[in-house]
Amino acid sequence: MVTIADFAERIAREAGELIRREREENTLRTDYKQQTELVTHADVMADEFITDAIRQAYPEHRIPSEESMPDLSQAENLDTPLWIVDPIDGTVNYAYGHPQVAVSIAWAEKGRVQVGVVHAPFSGETFRAEKGQGATLNGQPIRHSGATDLRQTLFATGFPYTKDQLEPLVRRLNVMIHHCRDLRRIGSAALDICWVACGRLDAYYESVSPWDFAAAKLIAREAGARAGHFSEVPAGYPEDLWGQDNLVTAPDIYDRIRELLANA
Ligand code: IPD
Ligand code: CA
Ligand code: CA
Repeated sequence: MVTIADFAERIAREAGELIRREREENTLRTDYKQQTELVTHADVMADEFITDAIRQAYPEHRIPSEESMPDLSQAENLDTPLWIVDPIDGTVNYAYGHPQVAVSIAWAEKGRVQVGVVHAPFSGETFRAEKGQGATLNGQPIRHSGATDLRQTLFATGFPYTKDQLEPLVRRLNVMIHHCRDLRRIGSAALDICWVACGRLDAYYESVSPWDFAAAKLIAREAGARAGHFSEVPAGYPEDLWGQDNLVTAPDIYDRIRELLANA
């Protein structure tokens, strides 16, 4: 029997193949959403490919996307499971020929993410987790870095496309840079979080949308990392889908970083 996780991995790999081929063989066609946010023809093609495949296999499930976002505050009461998909996480990297690009697919029941797959087609890496069953990278179990010392913490974060609310982000960055080893700006939130999961980074924080983190946060938790928020999640809202002030770290440094960010 094909499990939901097997199915998610298969379509993530196939979408990854499509994305890779499009960049290698075709001239990149780009456009802008809301004047600022870059989108390529490959984003659209991969999105159609994934959502068509899900609709065929699971016609009764829902697929919230950037374009059709339902009110997720009710997700815990929803009887229909949700697929949360980012066809290309790291579109700017994609357009510039960088390798840090991922297809992210999560599956949630009653607002809780049960399956997560993050596939990076240019590096040929597939991160995968099922709730309660651990996390893997290309089939091998992964684990967080075990970092305990803030001074030696390598952290990642990101910045939004819109530039009108940058001040608090710069304040937080200032505090983090002063306390930690260094910063990496990978350009894909899903990969940032998976890299915390496998110990290539010690910490990650950012405010992003559910499709950027839903799959990767499960992967991180299943790899023993701690994943939550450095501000309160509104009462009643499913924690797994709340995108404001995400924080994912090796467990021993979580509280200290949470405190720094919450007070910056
Ligand atoms: C973006 C990436 C980036 C993050 C942005 C996201 P996209 O997703 O995850 O790392 O900083 O906020 O929007 O647009 O490449 O799918
Ligand atoms: Ca994204
Ligand atoms: Ca995207």
